[in-house]
Amino acid sequence: MNWNRTRSWFPVSDEVVYLNHAGVAPISSRAADALHRYSAEATRWGAVHYDAFYDREIERVRGRAAALIGATSDEIAFVKNTTEGLGIVANGIDWKRGDEILTCDLEYPSNVYPWWELRDRGVETVMLAGRDGRLPIEMVETALRSPRARMLAISSVEFGSGAHNDLRTLGEMCRERGVLFCVDAIQSLGCLPIDVESMAIDFLSADGHKWLLSVEGCGIFYCRSSALEMVRPRIVGWRSVTNNEDFDTYHTELQPSAGRFEEGTPNTPGIFALGAAIDLLLELGIPAISKRVLALTDHLVDGLQASGADLRSPRGPIESSGIVSFTMPGCDPADTLQRLEVAGISAAVRRGGVRVSPHFYNTEAEIDRLLRAL
Ligand SMILES: Cc1ncc(COP(=O)(O)O)c(C=O)c1O
Repeated sequence: MNWNRTRSWFPVSDEVVYLNHAGVAPISSRAADALHRYSAEATRWGAVHYDAFYDREIERVRGRAAALIGATSDEIAFVKNTTEGLGIVANGIDWKRGDEILTCDLEYPSNVYPWWELRDRGVETVMLAGRDGRLPIEMVETALRSPRARMLAISSVEFGSGAHNDLRTLGEMCRERGVLFCVDAIQSLGCLPIDVESMAIDFLSADGHKWLLSVEGCGIFYCRSSALEMVRPRIVGWRSVTNNEDFDTYHTELQPSAGRFEEGTPNTPGIFALGAAIDLLLELGIPAISKRVLALTDHLVDGLQASGADLRSPRGPIESSGIVSFTMPGCDPADTLQRLEVAGISAAVRRGGVRVSPHFYNTEAEIDRLLRAL
């Protein structure tokens, strides 16, 4: 694969060394072209070609999103962000008093607050304690022994440390115990492989604005078809129901697919951008992208270790991801970040470390520039 060729789709690299895909990613020129296609049609034709132009693309992108995670189209709903998908699960399940939802204190707040909000309904959120930036599997194993455990809600990759959770093992453990498995996938989808079947994932949510290289405000929510009836949509609108273009016959028979969670008009321009972004990722191939990103982060880790940095990211065989977090001895991470910014490098500070997150179009030379700037 000639990765250098991919840089021409990312004009951002003419301006800055962009190493913050775990924050808000730039979009490719291909996603920008899709937005232009949308706006050109909307400007010139309005909704005259709605079915042929908009609906067709919405359903095509649904299929592409499904292909990205090994699902089927009818298991995918478009959502406005990761939080919305997690909220659909939190608010839709018929929890019983005493149910336990297992999560971890390394999680981004999106994957904590929706569960905490169930406190009033007698549902307890068990906050497993992360250790050295990772969630130890043994801790999950012990917590799953509780007869009250009903769901494990975890990120594919922890946003601060970059620890890549072993979703396959976690999924198997959940399935064996009849516990639901809900994954916040925003920190890996588009960069590391995810397969909802072999990982036994029941629910997954991810917005498009990080590793998927799309715009903010349009993401995907996956609901396993066998779990569909377990999740009651809390907002039901015209689009949630069957035969939803008949506006004259009121009824509330829900769509037999995850489409029931899309209650009204979708974010169509967002879906256009997301479609082009996913097309690009599938064209390059997630296995190849993942190999490339891990090679870049390995190169970064080697350089950081050589320069005496304190590495905060677990980098065991399955644990590595596109996120590397570190501190420089005696240096406030905010000052280190500022030094990088002055050198034209975009990164972030999260959970007490400088967080660097390259994607496939970044280069070893850019990583070396960061190391020099330190
Ligand atoms: C793990 C994780 N989940 C969720 C989000 C954001 O959620 P949303 O798409 O709802 O804004 C972030 C953003 O940084 C994140 O790192």
